[in-house]
Amino acid sequence: MAKQLWNKGFEPDKMIECFTVGKDRELDLRLARYDVQGSIAHIKMLESIGLLTKEELETLLPALDEIAESIERGEFTIEDGVEDVHSQVEFLLTAKLGDVGKKIHSGRSRNDQVLVDLKLFFRDELKRISRSVASLFNRLQQLSEEHRDKLMPGYTHLQVAMPSSFGLWFGAYAESLTDDMQMVVAAYNIANQNPLGSAAGYGSSFPLDREMTTRLLGFANPHYNVVAAQMSRGKTERAVASAIAAVASTLGHLAMDVCMWMCNNFGFVKFPDELTTGSSIMPHKKNPDVFEIMRGKCNRLQSLPNELTILTANLPLGYNRDLQLMKDIVFPATTELIECLDMADFMLSHITIKEDILEDTRYDYIFTVEDVNRLVLQGVPFRDAYKQVGLSVQDGSYSPTREVHHTHLGSIGNPANPQIAAKMHSLLKLME
Ligand code: ARG
Repeated sequence: MAKQLWNKGFEPDKMIECFTVGKDRELDLRLARYDVQGSIAHIKMLESIGLLTKEELETLLPALDEIAESIERGEFTIEDGVEDVHSQVEFLLTAKLGDVGKKIHSGRSRNDQVLVDLKLFFRDELKRISRSVASLFNRLQQLSEEHRDKLMPGYTHLQVAMPSSFGLWFGAYAESLTDDMQMVVAAYNIANQNPLGSAAGYGSSFPLDREMTTRLLGFANPHYNVVAAQMSRGKTERAVASAIAAVASTLGHLAMDVCMWMCNNFGFVKFPDELTTGSSIMPHKKNPDVFEIMRGKCNRLQSLPNELTILTANLPLGYNRDLQLMKDIVFPATTELIECLDMADFMLSHITIKEDILEDTRYDYIFTVEDVNRLVLQGVPFRDAYKQVGLSVQDGSYSPTREVHHTHLGSIGNPANPQIAAKMHSLLKLME
């Protein structure tokens, strides 16, 4: 006999069950601990409003703790025939405790149950992402300081343009991550609101104490309006996906730079042989496969908001089963992003920088603006100085002085790493 919470005595078609349950038995395992956490808060609240006795609560709590422990030990599974994690937890309780187990679902629906699980899950995943972002950020800042004075070419239109530095390059990605952290914090704040009590999406005639479950689960506030709470399924995922996409876009860009700087025509950065990959035919190859895979994964992660938008566009108000499919899009993504961030951190801990790149005469013209500025400081109007240097480039007489004087805030001589660190730290604080 199939075990549906909603089973009313007829056996649902096997194919229908398979199709509708989809990957839930596997994906919901990641929600299991949060499902128990949500149930604990819910039954404490039910007791406080008289829908469970003290004794019933005291029977239920240890049984839920036991399930929580089995989840932490990795022993919890969702049995065949059971639809999802919410059903599994309730079945386990009923099998163990009989009628008391059947009481926990008063004033609740799987719609607000899955919502509360997801919110708790996303809060934790976003914290995990922020920790990995913070590690990579620290690495980039440290590299920026370490290689602060090592110059490299700056490009526009992929043409040699002006002097840049490894200090600026590493530091730029660190600061760019602070912008992404704004998105992570925003997604966290959207997730950090309690949907429990919205039940099927329209509340309950029981006098549910939603402030109490909000407190117990550590949410910033309830998602007050029950309909808005249900609408947050999809909205929360899209916010999380936008945060993931933001970080992925920075990381993918960094991966592209590394691939390019590793290219033999540039040769600006190197990694130990054991961190590169080889070719089956060309014996000399040391390929940047790590950064190529990272670039590909990050590009794919950037399609997430689009995928979710299309999946959820114009759904009717209220719960719709389509929403279940979002789990398969977002769940693997958080893990994939964290793996990419941690890999980037690891690889960068082994990076070697080429020194004195700008000594090479192929970069001579990189100093033209420096030389124009020098003339300006001697009193020549900028447009005349520009023309003078331009003509010397044209007739082949230009010879660079190779001196770089960038001192203003955020430039080669003053990359403002402490100020950038302060920005990041104040954002990280918001997620503590
Ligand atoms: N697996 C379902 C989901 O993720 C749980 C909620 C089911 N609710 C329902 N009304 N069928 O959406």
